[in-house]
Amino acid sequence: MKPDRDLILREMGLGPVWRLRAPAAAVPAGQGASATTADAGQAQASAPAVVPAAAPSALAPLAAMAWDELAATVAACRQCRLCEVRKQAVLGVGDRNADWLFVGEGPGAEEDARGEPFVGQAGKLLDNMLAAIGLRRGEDVYIANAVKCRPPENRTPTPEETALCRPYLERQIELLRPRLIVALGRPAAQTLLQDDVKIGAARGKLHDYRGIPLIVSYHPAYLLRTPQDKARAWEDLCFMRRTMRTQKDR
Ligand code: URA
Repeated sequence: MKPDRDLILREMGLGPVWRLRAPAAAVPAGQGASATTADAGQAQASAPAVVPAAAPSALAPLAAMAWDELAATVAACRQCRLCEVRKQAVLGVGDRNADWLFVGEGPGAEEDARGEPFVGQAGKLLDNMLAAIGLRRGEDVYIANAVKCRPPENRTPTPEETALCRPYLERQIELLRPRLIVALGRPAAQTLLQDDVKIGAARGKLHDYRGIPLIVSYHPAYLLRTPQDKARAWEDLCFMRRTMRTQKDR
């Protein structure tokens, strides 16, 4: 292992794990993981009855919204029942001219309280993963989630919830026009690719989201529970960095 790689891996809090890991085992299918799912299991809530949307707004249609209107619309959203239990909607954070977009699953308790994605333990690991490839939250990086409101008990968002929230993420991507999208975990990958994605099969490949390259990797919360897969996450990070370089050369 080269010394500079050692440094990077220490940044991620991973040094010993990389060295001690056993030869690669098959990756079980479907290993996305929410911060939360990770902690609370895969229990699915009963399908949410969609509540009526808030009174028709005087705002522009979503497709014409700029950031401020989009933020106001998301903050007031009542498209699904997650609005009943959230403290606040969490739109996203970062550089609105970013080349990099990272998409997680949905806010957890700390994100719900602070209004910013990935500020808990999984967020700390994400920050270290970013540092490992020379990135920092907010600098050429934007971070968002598949759903903007915290699912209760930190469960995985239902397909109905992700479907109702997807237009907000789509509009964010239209506004951002990132060079690369990274889907962290299965719900983010499924939401963006509109397919029954399994992380083990989807990672390591270049996918396409409406003409933008998209890479699928593990959710940081999954990696916290499954440190033996951090080596694969490192491979994914290297793949992301290579892909971005290629994008910038085009
Ligand atoms: N997990 C996510 O997917 N998103 C967050 O914002 C926090 C934890």
